[in-house]
Amino acid sequence: RIPAGIYNAIDYERLAPQAMDAGRHAYVAGGCGWDSTVAANRSAFGRWHIVPRLLRDVRAGHTRLALGGLDLPHPLLLAPVAHQRLAHPQAEMATARAAAATGTLMVASTLSSCTLEDIAAACGPARWFQLYLQPRREDSLALVQRAEAAGYRAIVLTLDASIQLASRSALAAGFAMPPDCTPANLAGLAPPQVPALAEGDSRIFQGAMRHAPTWDDLRWLLARTRLPVWVKGVLHPQDAVALKDAGCAGLIVSNHGGRSLDGAPASLAQLPAVRAAVGGGYPLLMDGGIRSGADAFKTLALGANAVLVGRLQMYALACAGALGVAHMLQLLTEELHATMAQAGCAQLCDITPDTLTPALPC
Ligand code: FNR
Repeated sequence: RIPAGIYNAIDYERLAPQAMDAGRHAYVAGGCGWDSTVAANRSAFGRWHIVPRLLRDVRAGHTRLALGGLDLPHPLLLAPVAHQRLAHPQAEMATARAAAATGTLMVASTLSSCTLEDIAAACGPARWFQLYLQPRREDSLALVQRAEAAGYRAIVLTLDASIQLASRSALAAGFAMPPDCTPANLAGLAPPQVPALAEGDSRIFQGAMRHAPTWDDLRWLLARTRLPVWVKGVLHPQDAVALKDAGCAGLIVSNHGGRSLDGAPASLAQLPAVRAAVGGGYPLLMDGGIRSGADAFKTLALGANAVLVGRLQMYALACAGALGVAHMLQLLTEELHATMAQAGCAQLCDITPDTLTPALPC
């Protein structure tokens, strides 16, 4: 059942603490360090206002878009979010059913609680697989081949999470990953051989970063799969140009919801520079802090073709399972429709930068 008191998509965030235990909620809501980038992602939307337009005919309005060979009903995608059993016993199976019911493109995480094959069977044809490169190339290749066989339409290679320092709020809440939240896709993989650190070695440089991907690994992946490869975690315009030139199908401007580098800029703040660097026609998505249709509108106005929603799906899942996720997506879509109508935009291509004006500092 949909809980009482949900009027807007963001209400799922407000009610989630009632549906999740404190540790799990802190793990999902938190970022890393002091959560300054989590806060920046949200406050960036407050720097822009949407200017209403009058007398425009939007009766033929719609939010359809073509993306990566798919016809989607709206530009709201389900971001890869790991360990969904933290939010609901049905985990990604529930999210996948919501995606199928609403025609939403779901990006399934490498670290999902259900296998990528089970997710594929439950969600519609609009599915991409998010890849974390594994320390051994044969393990990465096996994941890619499984995704190809299961009918995923693209690989989303996440490159901004080679190391993630814990969130202070999750630490303070005493969160530990419960035993039923193991990553199902990685079952049976032998742990990588990690040579002991020599004296003077850094725990980060010679430790956690030992297996971090490099440009070589990207070129290797591009040569090994027939699927389009999108890269997620782009914030620097020069990286964006280099990734485009390397042959990536598109990019996702993202700071991993503030979970990777505390102090990284808001995704929305970087988006215009990344768009300018890659040029107008190149596919660009963004996530980080999207909580409403108006947020999605601002993101499209500043240069994204579509947006991804991370935490909201976990909150909706925790509150009401598959129904909650479908309802949250429906609310976000309606909010986007209403915002477009007020701004005189009948189609996504009408959402140009001049629909926004900078908010004056108070
Ligand atoms: C994530 N994110 C993420 N990204 C990714 O590429 N692979 C993953 O497995 C995960 N897992 C994950 C778990 C949890 C609990 C969260 C909150 C986030 C990042 C996610 O895809 C997305 O970038 C952010 O969540 C977007 O910000 P919002 O919408 O949460 O503000």
